[in-house]
Amino acid sequence: MNFLTKSAYCYRNTLVRFSSVVACAVFISCGSETAVPDTKQPSVMDVPFGFPAIPAPQDNPLTLEKIELGRHLFYDKRLSLDQTLACVDCHKQELAFTDGLPVSRGVNGEHGGRNSPTIVNTSYQTAFFFDGRASTLEEQIHGALFSPVEMYADEGKVTEILQADSYYKTQFSTAFGKDSLPNSRLAIKALASFVRIVLSGDSRYDRFLQGQTSALTMMELRGRDLFFSEQTQCASCHNGFNFTDDKFHSTGLYLHYYDKGRALVTNQAKDVGTFKTPTLRNCGVTAPYMHDGSVATLEEVIEHYDHGGKAFVNKDKRIVPLKLSSDDKQALVAFLHTLTDETLLKRKEFKKP
Ligand code: HEC
Ligand code: HEC
Repeated sequence: MNFLTKSAYCYRNTLVRFSSVVACAVFISCGSETAVPDTKQPSVMDVPFGFPAIPAPQDNPLTLEKIELGRHLFYDKRLSLDQTLACVDCHKQELAFTDGLPVSRGVNGEHGGRNSPTIVNTSYQTAFFFDGRASTLEEQIHGALFSPVEMYADEGKVTEILQADSYYKTQFSTAFGKDSLPNSRLAIKALASFVRIVLSGDSRYDRFLQGQTSALTMMELRGRDLFFSEQTQCASCHNGFNFTDDKFHSTGLYLHYYDKGRALVTNQAKDVGTFKTPTLRNCGVTAPYMHDGSVATLEEVIEHYDHGGKAFVNKDKRIVPLKLSSDDKQALVAFLHTLTDETLLKRKEFKKP
């Protein structure tokens, strides 16, 4: 398996959460040349080094059969109302499962108001969508499938199409039991299983944490120091192994937010204009940025933070002018690019079957 690189030896289920502090200790058990390689065959259910085991709900345990079925469904345009749009059209592997558009287009070219976020590492999330309106992946995927601005699926039609397909008839019974006929409820479980294994943790920065000191340049190291500094406070929101605190904040993008964000769910004035902190993994390939795709480049994202955002009433108090030099800005951008995981972008287990 070409996926089995040295760092892939480090892929195993573990409950160690990494931070830059524990990184050195972690390396001793993993990255050293003398470590005995794991003879276990790598599985799509293995997690990147330092990641917790993949959580899955009790009524939808993770199995290889469901994952494989979910992968087929992820690429199947027939699920959408006019059969023109599959999950992959808005979540493309080569763009770290985003679509490159400011806001994505659903069936009939219908514009949603939001930027397509990455689906990587969402298995660890507790709130889905930018406003956190779904609390499980199953609920989230139900939303994607039936939303008028996304796939706008017709439940009866989906069932009909799946039941008429011999691959699906066999694979649904292999995955869910021999008497299980395809339907959209089970399709959602399979899709969630596939999304759960789309993990990203093999960036140059991860390799650096595992002891490959040459993985980062001097400028990238300077960017890392700034990212984790008191001065920028980036890492106080973009923290942990997935660079997110899973909370909702306003970064002061606007004086008046057209999209009310988290307040759409909570109805509270203090939540207007707050959005879920996105992961920064692979942000080098997920432009444009922010909930509405209004910021085109990482350079512009850094300019936004350096200016300290607009004087919006709910703006988080950490968003203040940073007084970065142009070298600082360049270094921060360089650091963000080290979070790109080339393995993820090419991994064949995630490709169209
Ligand atoms: C028309 C484009 C489009 C299609 C098709 C689509 N999505 Fe999405 N997806 C989005 C957008 C936009 C969001 C964010 C919406 C929001 O925050 O309100 C999103 C959010 C998500 C999220 C949550 C990410 C997070 O961090 O909260 C997951 C997971 C996801 N989609 C998976 C899927 C799956 C699986 C399918 C197929 C059943 C699918 N999507 C189909 C555009 C799309
Ligand atoms: C108060 C918490 C907070 C702090 C501090 C913070 N961010 Fe963010 N960041 C967010 C939130 C929330 C968003 C999404 C905002 C939106 O969509 O309107 C975001 C968005 C981003 C994005 C766009 C990601 C995407 O996929 O769209 C990047 C890149 C980013 N932040 C980098 C940084 C850097 C670099 C710093 C430090 C200079 C930083 N952030 C500081 C909370 C924070």
